[in-house]
Amino acid sequence: MDLTNLSQTAAALVAPKKGILAADESSNTIKKRFDSINVESTEVNRKSYREMLFKTPGISDFISGVILFDETIRQKNETGESLVSILKNQGIQAGIKVDTGAKPLSGTKNETITEGLDGLRERLLEYHELGASFTKWRAVINISNEEPSDYAIKTNAHALARFASLSQEANLVPIVEPEVLMDGSHSIEKCYEVSHTVLNEVYYELHKQKINLNGTLLKPNMIIPGKDSNEPHNPEKVAEYTVKCLMDCVPASVPGIVFLSGGQTDNDATINLHHINVIAKKIHTPWELSFSYGRGLQSAPLEAWSGNEKNITLAQNAFHSRAKDTSAARNGSYK
Ligand code: 13P
Repeated sequence: MDLTNLSQTAAALVAPKKGILAADESSNTIKKRFDSINVESTEVNRKSYREMLFKTPGISDFISGVILFDETIRQKNETGESLVSILKNQGIQAGIKVDTGAKPLSGTKNETITEGLDGLRERLLEYHELGASFTKWRAVINISNEEPSDYAIKTNAHALARFASLSQEANLVPIVEPEVLMDGSHSIEKCYEVSHTVLNEVYYELHKQKINLNGTLLKPNMIIPGKDSNEPHNPEKVAEYTVKCLMDCVPASVPGIVFLSGGQTDNDATINLHHINVIAKKIHTPWELSFSYGRGLQSAPLEAWSGNEKNITLAQNAFHSRAKDTSAARNGSYK
């Protein structure tokens, strides 16, 4: 394990003004996204769409890295250039989602455990060969009257740490993603309480499993009320609760925190990140507070593209504009 290299890679991913594009939708998820624009999810369409995003002129001003799906890290375009080299030629790092999805957790009603540890050591070696410098694993935590259980939190935190340890062994920076879902009608206080418990458990496991935190990134949810709650959107409150929760739970040796967008509207994902960074600047948080958005960066270009080659410039402009705004928010200077 090359610790200097791991921490340099992690720091570069959260370099000033920059953040991450999550383009690692699994086959099922990308099909849902394509269904929404009436485009068939074929291998060629998925490649065309992602190549269009990666080739957006000027995008490396705002994007430091892209998380890919297994299919994408192996894809080449018509001229034989791999999608990984398209990114690397612009100075953008390639990452890879390495979990195999959230599956029902035995002994619970509705909770999940994220799988993919079997054979992971060998897969990581291959991904490194294919050009990846970082990895991602997403654990999913649901809030309801009875959930999450202590059992679901502990098993998921344990798996996240196993993934992080194997990634660092393979000289890949792990992005540790414990996502507390925004589904439900819970209050912002409930989201705070659950996220606080989950983050403490995750860092307890990372510590026990001897992870070098300066060669990792955290990808958490923001602290927001459930999407079916009646609480009005209050970005200052979201920012205050989010920064307080992270200050309580995330060690200073972590170089960066890259939020997921989690199904928030583009506007909410941008304004919340802006206010989070306004507070971060005031109190001098020890870590960078950036983004690793999927939907928050892709909804606009996906719709503009709609599967038609003629719309490529329109879609690239939409992606550039979302990346530019999110970069400004990541800097606390979004207008
Ligand atoms: P969203 O920003 O759409 O939540 O996706 C981020 C991600 O990578 C989820 O695993």
